Amino acid sequence: MHILITGGTGLIGRQLCKTLLADGHVLTVLSRNPDTVPAKCGAGVRALASLDEWQPGRSFDAVINLAGEPIVDARWTEQRKQALWNSRVTLTENLVQRITTAQHKPGVLLSGSAVGYYGDRGDAGLGEAAGPGADFPARLCNAWEAAALVAEASGVRVCLLRTGLVLSRQAGLLGRMLLPFKLGLGARLGDGKQWMSWIHMDDYVAMVLSLLRDAQARGPYNMTAPQPATNREFTATLAKVLHRPAPFIVPAWFLKFVMGERACLLLEGQKVLPQKIESAGYRVAFAKLADALRDLLGK
Ligand SMILES: NC(=O)c1ccc[n+]([C@@H]2O[C@H](COP(=O)([O-])OP(=O)(O)OC[C@H]3O[C@@H](n4cnc5c(N)ncnc54)[C@H](OP(=O)(O)O)[C@@H]3O)[C@@H](O)[C@H]2O)c1
Repeated sequence: MHILITGGTGLIGRQLCKTLLADGHVLTVLSRNPDTVPAKCGAGVRALASLDEWQPGRSFDAVINLAGEPIVDARWTEQRKQALWNSRVTLTENLVQRITTAQHKPGVLLSGSAVGYYGDRGDAGLGEAAGPGADFPARLCNAWEAAALVAEASGVRVCLLRTGLVLSRQAGLLGRMLLPFKLGLGARLGDGKQWMSWIHMDDYVAMVLSLLRDAQARGPYNMTAPQPATNREFTATLAKVLHRPAPFIVPAWFLKFVMGERACLLLEGQKVLPQKIESAGYRVAFAKLADALRDLLGK
């Protein structure tokens, strides 16, 4: 297949490109820095600098839409919220406009979303049928999904990737946590009762491939491991795998003071379960957090 990937230069995108190339697919990556695409995504991967370069005569068999400004990196000023919105919702609207006007439409669009779709939901186990939350991440994910679903009217199969916390060797959440934990400065966040719906990168990529191939797959998919952990459990498990203590607590008031509204990403959570993909027969390789962490950290 010839696959167009937005956000292909990112943490998930690069790993996905590696696997798709090994599977023999031809890849084109949309990037604001097209010159960096072969180095980041693999030799032979083509680059699009802008969606304007996708003329109606050009065809892709599938589109994977992962682009988005990092959500946790900067304080959520109105300007930052607009950038987060534009890089996901507006970009997806433009992408879908290209898809629906292409002479040969792609058969499938796999489009990004996040478990933040559900908002803060306490201890309730959430399958894909659960409704959306009302905070900023939930509204962002809801609009991002709605923009992608417009492609269905043109006969394109659309899957929405409600992505959990992707654990990877390279960077992301685990990369950020590693140094303090290795130094014995690991800490629980707030009361530690908030759920963290995590997924091993290998499972994430394998799930994407399975959704790409499965002609019956459509609609939202929780891209998470079947055993989410509370922040308290996550902290204790990472500390145990690293053989380090994690005696500290970062108080909720401090995180709110330093991070503002985006502290909700660390202090609130949702217990998300991958019901649909498991029902479709996908078997998760890393269901237990300790196994995933041991694999990723070579322990
Ligand atoms: N990693 C996670 O744990 C996680 C969890 C939930 C949801 N997600 C979502 O999954 C997607 C991929 O995650 P990731 O961790 O791989 O993200 P990432 O490493 O931050 O990469 C995101 C990619 O999006 C592109 N991008 C950033 N800002 C953009 C903008 N203003 N306009 C157009 N493109 C822009 C960048 O490509 P260029 O610089 O090449 O243009 C970048 O490579 C993101 O949308 C993220 O919100 C990730």
